[in-house]
Formats: sequence, C-alpha cells, structure tokens
Amino acid sequence: MSKNTVTITDNRNGNKADFDILDPSIGSSTIDIRSLHSELGLFTYDPGFQATASCKSDITFIDGDKGILLYRGYPIEQLAEHSNYLETSYLLMYGELPTQTEYQDFISLIKKHTMVHEGVKQFFDGFHHDAHPMAIMVGVVGALSAFYHDSLDIEDPRHREISAHRLLAKMPTIAAYSHRRAHGLPLLYPKNEFNFIENFMYMMFGMPTEEYVPNPIAVHAMRLIFILHADHEQNASTSTVRLASSSGANPFACISAGIASLWGPAHGGANEAVINMLEEINDPKEIPKYVERAKDKNDSYRLMGFGHRIYKNYDPRAKIIREACIELLDDLNINNTPLFDAARELERIALEDDYFLERNLYPNVDFYSGIILKALNMPLNMFTVIFAMARTAGWISQWMEMMEDTEQRIGRPRQIYTGATTRDYVNRSQR
Ligand code: CMC
Repeated sequence: MSKNTVTITDNRNGNKADFDILDPSIGSSTIDIRSLHSELGLFTYDPGFQATASCKSDITFIDGDKGILLYRGYPIEQLAEHSNYLETSYLLMYGELPTQTEYQDFISLIKKHTMVHEGVKQFFDGFHHDAHPMAIMVGVVGALSAFYHDSLDIEDPRHREISAHRLLAKMPTIAAYSHRRAHGLPLLYPKNEFNFIENFMYMMFGMPTEEYVPNPIAVHAMRLIFILHADHEQNASTSTVRLASSSGANPFACISAGIASLWGPAHGGANEAVINMLEEINDPKEIPKYVERAKDKNDSYRLMGFGHRIYKNYDPRAKIIREACIELLDDLNINNTPLFDAARELERIALEDDYFLERNLYPNVDFYSGIILKALNMPLNMFTVIFAMARTAGWISQWMEMMEDTEQRIGRPRQIYTGATTRDYVNRSQR
C-alpha cells in the first residue's frame, strides 16, 4: 500500500493533524483515523458504517457504482458460468482456484465431514413443531461447539481449518434436518454419490423408500444461487461474524451469530419477504396500490426485493440470476399464476417508474432468488436457510482471514452519548 496523507483541522480551535491515506489494490482510498482521538480528541460518527472500513481484506471486492463483484479477483459472471459452489468456496478460503488434485482432495475432505454427531440430532426433537428453521439453525450451529472440542483451539491454524471444513460440510445436513423434523420426515444421512447441491436436495426431498434422482434444472438454479451468495465482503452478517470472533469466541458460536444477523428482512430474510409480499398482492391489478404505499413518505411500507445499500446502479448478481429465473420459469412451464404474474408486473413497473429510477431501486438478487426458490417448491421458511448455507463459505473465509490479521483488535465501536449528564441519586420517598 502506498501512503499519502490528509490533514484534518478542528475549526473550533485550529488544531490539526495529518492522517495516512491507505490505497487498496482497487477501490476507494481510506483515511487511517486510528490516531484521531489521541491527536485531536475526536471520534467519528458513522451509523451503519456507510463510510468506514472495519478491516483489510483480500477476499471480495465490490464496486457498487459500476456493478462489479469479484471473488479473489475473479468476476462473479465467470464463476457463475464455469465454477461450482465447492470450487468457489475453496477459492474464497484459500485465495486461488484449486488444481485438479487440490479440487478432488477438497471434495473428498468435505464429503467426510457432512454427517453430524448422532447426539446433535436429538436437538431437533426439542424444538417446537412449528419453529422457524432459521431459529433451529442459530441453535444447532451454535451447539456444534459442544460436540467438536477437538477443533476449538482458535490459536491453532489446523484447528481453524478443520472447524471451517466442518461448518461448510455440515450446514446442508443441519439445514435439511431443520425442515424434515418439523414435518415428521425421517432425517436422511448424506450420500457421497451426490455433489454438494444434489446432496442437499436429496436430504431435503428424498425418501428412504425410493431412489432419489436429482432434477438437473433445479440443481443448476441452486448452483447459481449458492455461488452468487457465497460472499459479499463486509455485509451485516459477515461483520457480525467478525465482531463476535474479535473477542476470541469459537467459530461455531460466531457463525451462529452470523446466521442470526442474516435472518432479518433487510438482509437475508428479504427473499422470503418477497414471496410474502407477492402472496399478499396476489393480483397484478393490485400492484399500483402497493407501489403508491411504497412511495408514501408517511407509510413505512417498502417493496421487498428492491434496493441495495452498496449497488446503487445495478447488482451484477441480479443480472445473472434474472436470466436464470426467466429460463427456469420457461423450463418448468410456469405461466399465468397470480404470484408469478404479479412478480413480472412489479418488475416492469419498478423498471419504468420515476420514483424507482431516481433512487436506483431495481429488483435485487433476492427478488429473483425468491421467485426461483418458489418455482422449485422450496418451503418458504427455508429461503433464508439456503442463503445462510451459501454464505457459510464467505463467513468462514472472512473468519480465517481475520484470525491471521495481526492488526485486528476486539471490535469496540464508540458512541455519541446523548443521555443525562452527571446527577445525584434521589431517595425514592423524595422523588
Ligand atoms: N421500497 C421503496 N422505497 C425504498 C426501498 C424499497 N424497497 N428501498 C429504499 N427505498 C427508498 C427510501 O425510502 C429512500 O427514499 P428517500 O430518499 O425518498 O428517503 C431511498 O430509497 C434510499 O433508501 P435508504 O433506506 O437510504 O437505502 P439503504 O441503502 O439504507 O437501504 C435496503 C438499502 C436494502 C435496506 C433497502 O433498499 C430495503 O429495505 N430494501 C428492501 C429489503 C431488501 O430487499 N433487502 C435485500 C437487500 S440485498 C440482500 C443482501 O445483500 O443482503
């Protein structure tokens, strides 16, 4: 990194100090303000981290204005076209695409870790019959730290790697079980004859009494969803994983924290919220009413699956997945259903309406992934779980990177205190 400086002057008293500008390999330069308080007695205020870098990272690059997303330098479009989820996960974790041998070894290794301890299965019996699978994911993934003690020494790089492999491999098993138990269906052991995505589909939809034949159209669409969601630099859930880990907490607990953060409707819960919204609309004729509500300043209603904090022109993932979504609806011959018609009409209006154009609010990746998952008959409450499974590759990669970063410290934001100033306690009888 080359160094330059910026001078900050406190106009109240004329105090000034120089701060280094850190240049990334691509993207915006950053002011290193770590000494701001010791130099000028000031903190910075940035709710939602809109202008604050919390770490240095080699993993994922996003240019929100240009609509660029790179994993380790590789454009998302190329990975979506040529790669698969486990190869992409290897790239995110280790920084390079695997050779043929490395790839085969990685696949075999992950396959060895797909089963969960038999004791873990008993957890699923304890949840309420209609528990949301994300609630189960938060609980069970956190509980893995009670079972896999042999990889919990976070100071040992080999332990970290084994935990990362375990998380990546076991997530589909836990995800499928979180659905199966609620429906009284048998929990199926993973099958090594299937690839990663097929295996998840088998554990979700297969029956012990019948041979399971994966549907290639569904597997193709799921492969895309997994690759496109694998990482997205310092988003809310990844930052949660990093923040939780910064105290030295174990990786299973930290990924469980990430799952909790992802659950919210403004983040990973958006694709589920998209279908809820479309089901509520239910008729393309009703759309103008909902669009008006979304525009109304006095109404907190928002159209789910529209807008993005970082991509203000277009989201490259949405472009890729939109094509896949159209192809899938054609392949499955899904036409003339109120929900999918409403989706098409809403997309059309949003791409033409001034309110949306002026604010660069176009359908995001969750809009299309929600529609794809619905078309594949995936249960609605599993949508965010699928996002969590896919994002596990990013979470563990970012966690491994953070554990090797000598500049990282415990996460501890500052605040602007706006409460009462010092005052004396008054006895209750005198208040
Ligand atoms: N519907 C209607 N208006 C919207 C929407 C929406 N979905 N999103 C933003 N706006 C308006 C907002 O009211 C504001 O208008 P104005 O300038 O007149 O006050 C303007 O657009 C800017 O919005 P913002 O809240 O400042 O934008 P943000 O960057 O803070 O929020 C967002 C980004 C994704 C949280 C938000 O667009 C949203 O809530 N979208 C719906 C939920 C959703 O689809 N989330 C998935 C995001 S992609 C998945 C991921 O990467 O995790």
